[in-house]
Amino acid sequence: MKEISVNSKSDNYKVIIDSLESVEFVTFNDAFFVIDKNVYNLHKKKIERFIKKFKGKKVKYFFTATEKNKSFNEVNKILAELLNNSFGRDALLIAIGGGITGDTAGFAASIYNRGIAFLNIPTTLLAASDSAIGGKTGINFNGLKNHIGSFYNPKSVVIDTEFFTTLPIDEVICGLGEISKYSYLTENSFNNDLIKNFHSLVGLDEEKIVEVLEQCISVKASVVENDEKEGGVRKILNLGHTFGHAVESSLTYKLKHGQAVVIGMAAAFYLSNGLGYIPEIKLNEFLTLITRFRPYIKPIKVDFDKVMSYMSKDKKNRNSKIKFVLPIDFGLTMIDMEASVKDVKDALSKAISLFKN
Ligand SMILES: NC(=O)c1ccc[n+]([C@@H]2O[C@H](COP(=O)([O-])OP(=O)(O)OC[C@H]3O[C@@H](n4cnc5c(N)ncnc54)[C@H](O)[C@@H]3O)[C@@H](O)[C@H]2O)c1
Repeated sequence: MKEISVNSKSDNYKVIIDSLESVEFVTFNDAFFVIDKNVYNLHKKKIERFIKKFKGKKVKYFFTATEKNKSFNEVNKILAELLNNSFGRDALLIAIGGGITGDTAGFAASIYNRGIAFLNIPTTLLAASDSAIGGKTGINFNGLKNHIGSFYNPKSVVIDTEFFTTLPIDEVICGLGEISKYSYLTENSFNNDLIKNFHSLVGLDEEKIVEVLEQCISVKASVVENDEKEGGVRKILNLGHTFGHAVESSLTYKLKHGQAVVIGMAAAFYLSNGLGYIPEIKLNEFLTLITRFRPYIKPIKVDFDKVMSYMSKDKKNRNSKIKFVLPIDFGLTMIDMEASVKDVKDALSKAISLFKN
């Protein structure tokens, strides 16, 4: 069992890496479970054994985890089920699923009765390494990613790595995409480890996966501890996301989030080089890990004007200016950087070309 503490200004909570069977959660509170349907079908016995541990009222809500369902419509349905089943302020809402489930359920938990306790059980590599930590919840709105949401910490996060064994390869790659992001935000030994162990990680080597999860969670915890509500330093966690979210939205989510982030990081590296912040040699060093993803990300074609239009609506923009997170070295990242439309298009076009067969 591993435990990592996340201590923010508003809350302290633990991220536990252990099997759900071993974690003790005997509570008499009423519990409402928002469960990704796919995950339930694949891990029914494990989930039912876990649910049995709760002694109060128990209600299951099955969720189809798509970006389309990361919506007010689904949040409404969750809230209505909570109300129809007379859940009160002492209720516990438990999400079992990937980032879509956790973000949507967490948002519902944050607004039901002005906030009920939330427990997050991430079942994808991406959610375990990133989205379940740090307290951001939210839904998509009018075609914009995560545009509506709240900062709302879970009481605890429990990661059971056995869930990952049923992940399709694309989802493993998405998880490794977000994991890679963390390797640019700390000293370069993490990045080197990912390059060296890339194939073992794709094959979900248990020991290596736990090691990298611990690293990512520790990096995220230390960032969030310093800036919970993204006033400053937390923005570094958006590395690759200004490009990534816009590409993802412009392709109406045909490209998965973690894959879009890999392309987005490459674009940020090219932009950093194009603007003269990093030399060619650093660019190539940054791109080494990115190129490991080539066999796993299909070539894409984007409508640049559409991408620019989505970027211009990015939540991180200020004074109508698009803001980028640009790394200059491992663990050294600039935030709120601006660039001309031409430089942005050039960088994105180079990043997309990296993934042409
Ligand atoms: N809140 C944050 O800080 C934050 C950070 C990063 C990403 N996100 C969000 O996370 C979302 C992406 O999360 P995700 O990649 O986990 O996506 P997801 O929740 O859609 O899961 C991906 C797919 O895998 C399936 N799945 C989940 N667990 C499985 C398992 N154990 N075995 C087999 N299949 C399984 C799901 O049903 C789904 O089809 C995006 O919406 C993104 O915006 C949020």
